[in-house]
Amino acid sequence: MKTIHLICAARPNFMKIAPLYHALKKESRFKLEIVHTGQHYDYQMSQAFFDDLNLPLPHHHLGVGSGTHAEQTAQTMIAYEKLCLEKRKPDLVVVVGDVNATLACTIAAKKIHLQVAHLEAGLRSFDRTMPEEVNRIVADSISDYYWTPSEDANENLLKEGVRPEQISFVGNIMIDTYCMMQNKIEQKETYHQFGLSRQNYVVLTLHRPANVDSLDRLELTMEKIRQIDLPVIFPVHPRTKKNLEQIEQLPKNLKIIDPQGYIDFMSLVSNAAYVISDSGGIQEETTYLGIPCFTLRDTTERPITVTVGSNQLVSVDNLLDRIQYPKKGEIPPLWDGKTAERIKILIRDRL
Ligand code: UD1
Repeated sequence: MKTIHLICAARPNFMKIAPLYHALKKESRFKLEIVHTGQHYDYQMSQAFFDDLNLPLPHHHLGVGSGTHAEQTAQTMIAYEKLCLEKRKPDLVVVVGDVNATLACTIAAKKIHLQVAHLEAGLRSFDRTMPEEVNRIVADSISDYYWTPSEDANENLLKEGVRPEQISFVGNIMIDTYCMMQNKIEQKETYHQFGLSRQNYVVLTLHRPANVDSLDRLELTMEKIRQIDLPVIFPVHPRTKKNLEQIEQLPKNLKIIDPQGYIDFMSLVSNAAYVISDSGGIQEETTYLGIPCFTLRDTTERPITVTVGSNQLVSVDNLLDRIQYPKKGEIPPLWDGKTAERIKILIRDRL
């Protein structure tokens, strides 16, 4: 029996491990253990996703919680190393995406000579002021296996000296998650609950430090939102909530709601006229669905969503002009719902 750790920490990770968990659990040779570091802990940011995605309770919970980057990273490293040393060491550690736990668990695992696979490897925004870019670069400098979502990621890794045989272009795992849940999402009409009508509203999400940590910047964004001629539904991330509460007059067309579970959130996105966001994953989900997405960032680590998909990078200044020109785009190669199956074959060959 080979033990595999699936590491997750924050909201987007839960979506990425779910298809892999469901694909691998069918193999009796593998003992799967979900390790939740505890970075996200509110019900709506964590357990709601386990419920929606039919995941069992985590086998190990490290209880790390909030803190500065160094605190979060250091505590995750200490707790994960302890887990591996005290219990049976895993034969493979799978880290996903680019959150602090991706970096922390990769370092802790490599220092005790464990094999690490990075799912969603090779993405680069080339903006090192983003904590996620630092996490991606460090994890990708010491992992053993690199599972990539797009060919640009392969090129980035090759340029950084990763050996070609370590890289596998497996496709986009987030699209597996959508395909796995598509029936349930299509049966839900979450917009009704909020008094909205189909394709007659906008979904807004904001949580990047550059967009939400400065009150002036957030106020400026709200000023632009006020000028949009559709209702704008805004599931608010805890990070954003603190500053949003300081703004005296929020736009009348803005509908603030709690963070949503996966099914409700994807139901809102798939029935929206368009999406304004600064998220990583939403750029991909909207590309798959052909829903126009306006990403409030200067750079993206997912350029294929712009060159092929429905995404456009915008600034607060040009947002109102750019929403006049939405695009539908196409679906990139291997964004087909079969990524977890491709990974299963790779793991079978290696363990
Ligand atoms: C983290 C990830 C980011 C990812 C995002 C998705 C890193 C560096 N960042 O950012 O890549 O896109 O998750 O959501 O790993 N908080 C709560 N309840 C929670 C979680 C957080 O109140 O369940 C509060 C924290 O106390 C903190 C703030 O939200 O004040 C930010 O949380 P944190 O986990 O540090 O980073 P995110 O901004 O969520």
